[in-house]
Amino acid sequence: MTQDRMRCDILVIGSGIAGLSFALEASKWADVIVVSKRSASESNTKYAQGGIAAVLSPEDTFEAHVQDTLVAGAGLCREDVVRAIVEGGPAGITRLTDLGVAFDQRQGEGPNEFGHELDLGKEGGHQKRRIVHAGDITGRAVEAALLRACQARARIRILEDHMGIDLMVPEGFGARDRCVGAYVLDCETSPDRGGGEARPARVLTIQAHATVLATGGAGKVYLYTTNPDVATGDGVAMAYRAGATIANMEFFQFHPTCLYHPQAKSFLVSEALRGEGAVLRLPDGTPFMRRYDDRADLAPRDIVARSIDAEMKRTGSEHVLLDITDKKPEFVRKRFPNIHAECLRWGFDLTTQPIPVVPAAHYMCGGVAADVDGKTSVKGLWAIGETACTGLHGANRLASNSLLEGLVMGYRCATRLQTLIGDKAQRDALPEVPSWDAGDAVASDEAVVVTQNWDELRRAMWNYVGIVRTDKRLRRAQSRIAMLQEEIREYYWAHLVTRDLLELRNIATVAELIVRCGLARRESRGLHYLLDAPKADPKWARDTLVRRGVPAHLEGG
Ligand code: FAD
Ligand code: SIN
Repeated sequence: MTQDRMRCDILVIGSGIAGLSFALEASKWADVIVVSKRSASESNTKYAQGGIAAVLSPEDTFEAHVQDTLVAGAGLCREDVVRAIVEGGPAGITRLTDLGVAFDQRQGEGPNEFGHELDLGKEGGHQKRRIVHAGDITGRAVEAALLRACQARARIRILEDHMGIDLMVPEGFGARDRCVGAYVLDCETSPDRGGGEARPARVLTIQAHATVLATGGAGKVYLYTTNPDVATGDGVAMAYRAGATIANMEFFQFHPTCLYHPQAKSFLVSEALRGEGAVLRLPDGTPFMRRYDDRADLAPRDIVARSIDAEMKRTGSEHVLLDITDKKPEFVRKRFPNIHAECLRWGFDLTTQPIPVVPAAHYMCGGVAADVDGKTSVKGLWAIGETACTGLHGANRLASNSLLEGLVMGYRCATRLQTLIGDKAQRDALPEVPSWDAGDAVASDEAVVVTQNWDELRRAMWNYVGIVRTDKRLRRAQSRIAMLQEEIREYYWAHLVTRDLLELRNIATVAELIVRCGLARRESRGLHYLLDAPKADPKWARDTLVRRGVPAHLEGG
């Protein structure tokens, strides 16, 4: 086997909470390769602030967490999935504390009935305090601990700067029959690196008995997003090209409060601030959320984001304000040290002044259709974490349920796979697959085409497929995206692949799927708010499904 061809028991694409939780558990019985397209820690996980929702207080119950999740999900959650993930929470938190994650502790109150002394935060849509957090940099602490543990395991090999291009679903197994690994770009050899040398990049052929997509979200499909640059929906796009069923892409969550500053690149200001009493105000200081919902500033996110959008449109203001000045400055500095410091960097002192905030694209509730263990419609292909659509979030995700999903699904997927292929004798022979063929492609001398298309696509999504939608704008977006896809397709086949080009192709696919799913849903529900049909209709309380070559349709339709 050449160094460009590799084999392993399980290939994991992505190294956030889902991929690393999976790898850690699976490496007890399998050889695992994890590929990650930038440095291994770069992920949505690393930027998570608020924390992880889990039932850990004697005043809380699984039932209450399940109910809160179902209410936020606006009639589209799968209750069995919600229950399984919620019930997996406490054990998941214990696994993380065992790895050394230093979650904040309660001050001198002693252990609760689960043996934990954790400080629990509150966020929108939660009846109870149940958010476990490490200051306001929970994600950084979790990612670092998981990565450390994975790096110490002999059976895990992590390939940084390696990007999954396409899944291998060879014809010999019948279309959509079985995934046997992926083609992976070694980004260090990409023609856009290394002083412009026009050599084809090294593309690895990595074969595996199971392939796990843990590629996270797709915030970069929108012009303004809380997500880092890696969030380009690669898993969804790869799975779609491989023939997998994709679900509920119209439900894209916008986080209500990002710092409004031209250079701040949508810095998130955690919902945990509102959990501790912060209030949203108009620029003239008037609080407004109670006009929209009895739960006021702690209503579920879809409602808060839509209310801010409506107020900005009504008043013509470019932002609203978030005000936590009622709290003691010492409390704010201690509870939100990172957010406080970051705001100061941009000239705003949270402890003395309300800060300007706006909504931005945050979380992909749809994704590769999968069961609670990550099993997809393609044999050998599994999807976990944000890239999967399991029915946990329904039409709108409850705050802090996402790290929970990655943590629990990673573990469950590894456990399920062990029963299927844990024993070597259970692993089917891997077929011979061709190596990557660059054909007649040449290095691009027009990288500007990629940048221009990125910009146009993200702007069209922001303007036409945002918080409030209309049929007319969705159709306008559809024709723009189709035009851009045609250009991208031509460019893709003529030029050597680079990470930017692959990401552009993927983001265009994700945009297409969001719009197609949006056009199929003839009602407003959760995060999909359509002015042409502004009410939820019980007959549409079904998932939107889309598969290559098949029009988007609602389940059972
Ligand atoms: P990620 O953590 O995004 O990891 C995906 C990985 O896949 C990355 O390593 C990426 O580089 C890699 N990758 C992607 N494509 C490829 C490819 N083609 N080839 C190779 N590698 C690839 N959720 C909560 O529950 N609580 C919070 O407090 C919270 N706060 C948040 C704050 C911010 C600013 C953001 C952006 C999100 C927040 N979320 C929060 C959401 C949550 O962080 C994510 O949903 C969750 O971390 C997703 O985990 P994941 O493992 O599925 O994906
Ligand atoms: C936040 O801290 O507001 C983000 C929480 C989340 O996205 O779940």
